[in-house]
Amino acid sequence: MQRFIENMPKAELHVHIEGTLEPELSFALAKKNKVELSYETPEALISAYDFNDLPSFLTIYYAGMNVLIEEDDFYQLTYDYLNKARSQEILYVEIFFDPQAHTVRGVSFDTVITGIHKAQIDAERELGIKSQLIMCFLRDMSAESAMQHLLLATPHLDWLIGVGLDSDERNNPPSKFYDVFSEAKKLGLKLTMHCDVNQKNTLVHIKQCINEVKVDRIDHGINALESEALCKLIKENKLGLTVCPVSNQFVVQSLTSDEIHQMLEKDILVTINSDDPAYFRAYLNENLIKLQKEGSFSQDQIVTMVENSFKVAWLDDEIKGNYLNKLKRYVSEYKQ
Ligand code: ADE
Ligand code: ZN
Repeated sequence: MQRFIENMPKAELHVHIEGTLEPELSFALAKKNKVELSYETPEALISAYDFNDLPSFLTIYYAGMNVLIEEDDFYQLTYDYLNKARSQEILYVEIFFDPQAHTVRGVSFDTVITGIHKAQIDAERELGIKSQLIMCFLRDMSAESAMQHLLLATPHLDWLIGVGLDSDERNNPPSKFYDVFSEAKKLGLKLTMHCDVNQKNTLVHIKQCINEVKVDRIDHGINALESEALCKLIKENKLGLTVCPVSNQFVVQSLTSDEIHQMLEKDILVTINSDDPAYFRAYLNENLIKLQKEGSFSQDQIVTMVENSFKVAWLDDEIKGNYLNKLKRYVSEYKQ
């Protein structure tokens, strides 16, 4: 099963590029940019990773970004991630980035997006991995700041496929960003929002995402299972859910395999993803392998979840069909 998962052609739809910052790169960039780190070695930094909920993770995640300053830093971060992803047989990625976490530190929007974009181009040409970019707004910042960043992005609209919403969900409902998401939709961008596991008012937030903002996908969204009505809405709207098992484990002490089983039983388009793999110490393959073990998922169920990722990807039907055929061929050859 492990080899079957490792060699399977896959897609990743929920990965924060800043969450792929490996400690070794962090140390190299800190040295180059003369930024002081509080730890002596990459190993010491890793052992200081201590999170048990969203706020405790976010504190460490934002602190880690201070080493990212020049365009080249964003290039290297992105290229390294895409290289790692390709080594895991990931053929297609939708990458989140958090521009506000950089502009607040005095790093320009153009520096960030240009570095990421150039790495995407080079990785596609040199490594054969396709990727598209999703700009996330930080929900614990103001709606005005989100709108300003959407404006900053307009000269680079061709470089974006969609917008997302992340960071601290507490008291920051989807409705706070209704206007900016409406504007983004008018610009032709796809919409997704985080509904992290076990957040206050989570069912209200999921409902707002679907009925008010009219998102195209939901990131996480595990708690929707508590409401028959929400499950029905998710199915009717054919919304993909980008679930991140190892990320969930830090909050709920389980890879949420029971919930993922329930989603599959209900024919909800659940997909498996890595979220912040450098921090959670698990890329996509490790997420799938650990999940399969915890939940004793069958090969067919693993294939369904990987198929779902291609189905709900923001690609045109022809490209999706090509990826799905590749996956089908892999599965039938493996079974022979
Ligand atoms: N930023 C990076 N990872 C996140 C997550 N899982 N939830 C909210 N914001 C995030
Ligand atoms: Zn996330």
